[in-house]
Amino acid sequence: LRPRVVFSGIQPTGVPHLGNYVGALRQWVNLQHEEKPSTKLIYSIVDLHAITVPQKPEVLKQRKREVLAALLAIGLDPERCTIFYQSSVPAHSELMWILACTASVGYLSRMTQWKSKLSLDSSSTLDEGPVGSRLKLGLFSYPVLQAADILAHRATHVPVGHDQQQHLEFARECVTNFNHAYGNHLVPPSTITSPAQRIMSLTDPTSKMSKSHKAQRSRILITDTPEEIRSKIGSALTDSTPGVSYDPATRPGFSNLLEIYSVFDAEKRSPVQLAQVYANSSPKVLKEAVSDALIAGLHGIRDRYLDLSANESFLEMIEKEGARKAQESAQETMEIVKSAVGL
Ligand code: ADP
Ligand code: NA
Repeated sequence: LRPRVVFSGIQPTGVPHLGNYVGALRQWVNLQHEEKPSTKLIYSIVDLHAITVPQKPEVLKQRKREVLAALLAIGLDPERCTIFYQSSVPAHSELMWILACTASVGYLSRMTQWKSKLSLDSSSTLDEGPVGSRLKLGLFSYPVLQAADILAHRATHVPVGHDQQQHLEFARECVTNFNHAYGNHLVPPSTITSPAQRIMSLTDPTSKMSKSHKAQRSRILITDTPEEIRSKIGSALTDSTPGVSYDPATRPGFSNLLEIYSVFDAEKRSPVQLAQVYANSSPKVLKEAVSDALIAGLHGIRDRYLDLSANESFLEMIEKEGARKAQESAQETMEIVKSAVGL
C-alpha cells in the first residue's frame, strides 16, 4: 500500500489574498493535523510556472520570499511538511521533458486556459504578426510541468480548484502515455480534493477576488492591518435593498460578506444563519461584525510575517531544508523513470 502523498502548489505572486487563504492555503494548514502523520504533505512555491509570463528578476526573487514567509506565518510547519521552491528541485524540469516526449500536442492545444490566452493575445496584438507568434512554448507546455510536479512526488492527492481540474486530467493522460510507452511506472493521482468557498471581489462581487484586479480595495491581503481590513470591508460594494439577506445570485455583495463572516465566525454559523441574525441591520453594522471576525481570524499572521521577513538567515535555512527534502522525495521516481526510458 502506497502512503498518501498530498501535493499542492502556489505561484510566487507575493502575499496571498483572502481568496487564496480561504480557497486553498487554510486547507494546507489544516491537513497538518487532519491527515495521519504518515501522509506526506508537499507544498511547492512554483517559480518555474511563474516565468511562463514575463517577470522582473528582482521582483520574482522578492515574491518568492514573501510567499514563503506567508506560508510559515499562516502556520505551515516545516517539520511536518515539505515547503520548497520548484526550481530548487531539478527533477521537476527533468521529468517534464521526459513526459513531454510522450505527451500529445493535440490534447494540450484543446485545453481551455491555453485557448483563452490565445484569444486574448490575438485580440490585443493583431498587428504584431500571425496569431500565436507572441505566445511562448513554456506557457503552452505549462500543464506538462504541472503533471511533472505531481508525478515526481508520486502524489496521490492533489487539492485543486475547479479551474485546475483539466490539468489534473492531463496529468493522468501523461501517466497513460508514459506507461503505455515504457511500462507501468508512474502512478496516476487518485483523488481530487475539491476547493472550499470562493471569495468574491469586494468592489465587484460578481467576480472572484483576485490579484489580477487593479483595485487594491477589491482584495484583502492576509497581512493587512486591522485598520486596512476595516476600511476595505467598510467600502465593500453592497446593494441598496434594505436589510440583509443571503442570496448570491441577486445580492452578491451581502452574500460575499456573509460568506467571509461565516468562514471566520467563532460560533461557526452558516451564511444563512448569519443573514437571519443581521436581517434588520444596516450594512454598516454587518460590516463592523464581518471586520471583527476577520481581524480575529487573521490575528497573528501579520506579526509573524513581519518577524519572518526580517529573519533572512532563518528563511534561507528553511529554503535549503525544503529543497533537500523535496529532492529526496522526487529521487525514487526519477530513478525508476530514467531506468525505464534507458537514460
Ligand atoms: P488569483 O486568482 O489571485 O490569480 P491564483 O490563481 O494564483 O489566484 O490561485 C491560487 C489558489 O488560490 C488556487 O488554489 C485558487 O483556487 C485559490 N483562489 C484564488 N482566488 C480565490 C478566490 N477568490 N476564492 C477562493 N479561492 C481562490
Ligand atoms: Na489566477
